Amino acid sequence: MTTKQIQWFPGHMFKSLREIKERTKLMDLVIVLLDARLPLSSMNPKLMEIIHHKPMILLFNKMDLADDKVMNTFLKHYQQQGFYTLKIDAATGRNVSKIRPLAEQILKEKLDREKNKGLKPRALRTMILGIPNVGKSTLINQLSKSSATKTANTPGVTKSQQWIKLGQDFELLDTPGVLWPKFEDPKVGFHLAITGAIRDKILPEEEVVYYALNYLQTHYPERIKKRYDIDQEDSLETMLDKIGKLRGCLLKGGDLDYERIYHIVLADIRNKQLGGLSFDRFEDVSV
Ligand code: G4P
Repeated sequence: MTTKQIQWFPGHMFKSLREIKERTKLMDLVIVLLDARLPLSSMNPKLMEIIHHKPMILLFNKMDLADDKVMNTFLKHYQQQGFYTLKIDAATGRNVSKIRPLAEQILKEKLDREKNKGLKPRALRTMILGIPNVGKSTLINQLSKSSATKTANTPGVTKSQQWIKLGQDFELLDTPGVLWPKFEDPKVGFHLAITGAIRDKILPEEEVVYYALNYLQTHYPERIKKRYDIDQEDSLETMLDKIGKLRGCLLKGGDLDYERIYHIVLADIRNKQLGGLSFDRFEDVSV
């Protein structure tokens, strides 16, 4: 990826990692929210380095938009690595009710130990971490909907931070930890752009759509055949031509309106018109 393409990479990433490191010290458990369609691209390896010692749940959000088969392979892989995982749809609330019991199960030993030492029972604390647009606010809303009111500001933490009570003994920090993904691999940038995790126009739209069409042609040939009548041997030009003609994307003189074609392809992908799709593949796992 060229310097120009990554200019938008925010300089405050290191600051937020430092802040997250500080805040996680207060937590009994952290919830890492990943995009189920791109569990590798939406995972920040630096984050994993600073929180690897913490009890943790990996949540695969937007399960409704992912390719089940690929998503399940990733889930199995992380479970085999010893991670606790859940796939959820924060938008509808699917599986969200399983989060707290899982957290309690993970922390049971710690709690029992504290009890045996004669320590007073206390509320367990957790926070949600993830890249922008992965669904952190949606999940926090779901979790607070199903539970109770906010507690008052707690002494010792910043005034603006509040804890949401989840049931009797569980508290969630209402400010999620936002961090940026890692872009050294250009694929990551494309995957984030295709799924709308980063704003359109940050990467050149035509490059994003070319990448997407090539990817679909390789991994989901039958889906793009059905929707756009694209064949596996079609060139990029032919693909754009077919989509443009099929969807009436023509300018006054009869030329193809490429801008409209790009928008149609991206909207179809994001609105599930091509079915559940995954953009990270298991072959790309390096651990
Ligand atoms: P963030 O706090 O991590 O930045 O993300 P946020 O909750 O704002 O969610 C980003 C977008 O993802 C929102 O859509 C939200 O509705 C959507 N979203 C979150 N979880 C899920 C999920 O499990 N499935 C699906 N399909 N979508 C999910 P938006 O277009 O920005 O807003 P809106 O359409 O909800 O108004």
